[in-house]
Amino acid sequence: MDDRPTALITGATSGIGLALVQRMSDDQRLILTGRRDPSVLPEKLPQGTQYIKADLSVPGVGVDTIEAAFKAADHKSLDRLIVNAGTGFYAPVEREDAGMIRSTLDVNLGASVILACRFAPYLEAVGGTVVFIGSVAHRGAANMPSYAASKAGLAGLARSLGSEWEGRIGVQIIHPGPTRTGMHEKAGYPTGGKRDRLFFSSEGMADEIIRLMDSGRPHGTVMLRAGLRQLFSGKRS
Ligand SMILES: NC(=O)c1ccc[n+]([C@@H]2O[C@H](COP(=O)([O-])OP(=O)(O)OC[C@H]3O[C@@H](n4cnc5c(N)ncnc54)[C@H](OP(=O)(O)O)[C@@H]3O)[C@@H](O)[C@H]2O)c1
Repeated sequence: MDDRPTALITGATSGIGLALVQRMSDDQRLILTGRRDPSVLPEKLPQGTQYIKADLSVPGVGVDTIEAAFKAADHKSLDRLIVNAGTGFYAPVEREDAGMIRSTLDVNLGASVILACRFAPYLEAVGGTVVFIGSVAHRGAANMPSYAASKAGLAGLARSLGSEWEGRIGVQIIHPGPTRTGMHEKAGYPTGGKRDRLFFSSEGMADEIIRLMDSGRPHGTVMLRAGLRQLFSGKRS
């Protein structure tokens, strides 16, 4: 019998999610979700791990799919739900069309609300924790208005659930700073400039996220200070 703690990670197919999987797969039983077909998953994903294909841009349908597969695998409880899947566009507000705004809000915020509510009973069964991956952009960021709004909404959601579920389910939100992942290219963000050198590696960011998750603190931000620590310890790539 596998008695390791169980963690479900959304957006596990690339970037920070994939790095979290690689860091956590030895000592946790992982359930991974993503929108990709299983035939095109990255080779780095550990073999034999449960993978659920679910597009969260239609949040109700995506979360239904994840919950149905979770139940079908006979899971009765969940120690950690890591709500990491995210999307966005780098464009001034007048160039964001309704479809861009809708998908950013639906994946980053709508799906997160539904996931947290739907998995609350499984988390409560073992005093588990939901961890939202926010962004430093939650304070507002030029050329990312809907993305920033979705992450500000996530911060409000985390604060609300933290009060509502106090003593029953842990709630954490972690705001990463800029990290080298495929997200920037997908969002249309111009990469390759000098500023990119200050970005975290996805592995370095995963290490900081794990450190904050283990601290149990309700919120945390991974910015320059953590970057410097990694630089001096030679860990930053
Ligand atoms: N990179 C940064 O600088 C940065 C900074 C702050 C916060 N964050 C946050 O960190 C989290 C991870 O981002 P990342 O940088 O690792 O980006 P990423 O490499 O693009 O990973 C995002 C993950 O979400 C998945 N995803 C996107 N749209 C989806 C949808 N409609 N349905 C289901 N899954 C979907 C992606 O699937 P595919 O692999 O198929 O694309 C991927 O697995 C996000 O919440 C992001 O907002 C990132």
